[in-house]
Amino acid sequence: MKISVIGCGYLGAVHAACMAELGHEVIGIDVDAAKIALLAEGHPPFFEPGLPELLLSASASGRLRFSTDVAQIAEARVHFVAVGTPQLEGSNAADLRFVDAAIESLLPHLKPGDLVVGKSTVPVGTAARLVGLVESTGASLAWNPEFLREGFAVKDTLAPDRLVYGIAPGDVTAEALLDGVYASALAAGSPKVVTDFATAELVKVSANAFLATKISFINAMAEVAEATGADVTQLADAIGYDARIGRRFLNAGLGFGGGCLPKDIRAFMARAEELGVDQALSFLSEVDGINMRRRERMVDLAREVVGGDVAGKRIAVLGLAFKPDSDDVRDSPALDVALRLTELGADVVATDPQALETTRRRAPQLVTVASAQEAATGADAVLLLTEWREFRELDPVALASLARVPAIVDGRNCLDPVQWREAGWTYRALGRP
Ligand code: UDX
Repeated sequence: MKISVIGCGYLGAVHAACMAELGHEVIGIDVDAAKIALLAEGHPPFFEPGLPELLLSASASGRLRFSTDVAQIAEARVHFVAVGTPQLEGSNAADLRFVDAAIESLLPHLKPGDLVVGKSTVPVGTAARLVGLVESTGASLAWNPEFLREGFAVKDTLAPDRLVYGIAPGDVTAEALLDGVYASALAAGSPKVVTDFATAELVKVSANAFLATKISFINAMAEVAEATGADVTQLADAIGYDARIGRRFLNAGLGFGGGCLPKDIRAFMARAEELGVDQALSFLSEVDGINMRRRERMVDLAREVVGGDVAGKRIAVLGLAFKPDSDDVRDSPALDVALRLTELGADVVATDPQALETTRRRAPQLVTVASAQEAATGADAVLLLTEWREFRELDPVALASLARVPAIVDGRNCLDPVQWREAGWTYRALGRP
């Protein structure tokens, strides 16, 4: 099929490359010429395992092209809108400027029989607001939310857990076109749920709200565990064996961040308020609150291990990305903690396997080094804030010889306390004795 993808940021670039990998002929459009040039050369402007290889093979096959010229979508029949919906400054609501601009830019080039497919995460009601505009050209509209996780984006797009099609009632053409796009995923058994627009939009934000709630639930248990001497990791294992609960997303620690969960739950609350159902989602402000408290607790633990005041203490920060296998520091708990400690006068030295460049752009004041060993040299305390594999596999004996004081705070409960204590470390963690 001939497909266009409008917006080649994280979501759009991955989607375009994966659609080409599935055999479709794809044109990716973005207003940012520098981004388009990088993608055309097989260099995504962000870190995502497997994506550079996919971009190169798709471009070599001739099935994937990139352009800044939106008129080039005219040859395609299915047009995915994959632009960002960031948090509006000074508000919790989502900024829909880019979605509206993308639809506007498409309108002059749409033909009867075309399908515009929204992929961006939007407040419920957005598709209903846009459908008239799209239909005025003879094209139709569908909303097909994306559930990809950073670090697993290629796999999540090629073999999705589920496909959700939000379509106008009885729009069998839209459904058939989407079936054509996703033929290989459907054949491999990805379940499909066909809904109206509002349900499809809600599926996305409620899935993120549920995941955020699950993380904050276990972090709330971590707070109770800290007050009682219990171990939240064992608690998570034990409750996770109940198939109704499940162990995934029960890792207690520094909490969630990134470009999706925090902004999506805030935008969901803002939309609920507009709809007069804010009470139904008031628990989400607790979810947000529990999540932010973890960062304060980490700063408190850093204070405790250095004897009360972090000013002038050398603190090694291991991890800056919001999660491993990503260079993303948007709303990163790790970066937030590093900056709070810097503001308190600590001599912070931070490192991350992939996020040094993104950190320099966002927080140039932070001192960064290339390795955990360099960061830990002469440290009064080491904080592990993102659970990269290279940090989980650090040798506690070797690291102890570098630190001035062997004290570690495990912000992701990913180290073996026995092994670290045996190597002479003071080991502290969130929710573990
Ligand atoms: C998330 C959703 O998982 C995905 O479906 C949606 O499309 C976009 O948002 P992503 O932001 O890539 O994906 O990250 P995810 O793996 O969900 O992790 C989010 C945050 O939660 C990270 O900061 C991670 O460290 C944290 N987390 C996750 C925990 O603190 N504990 C857990 O048990 C799991």
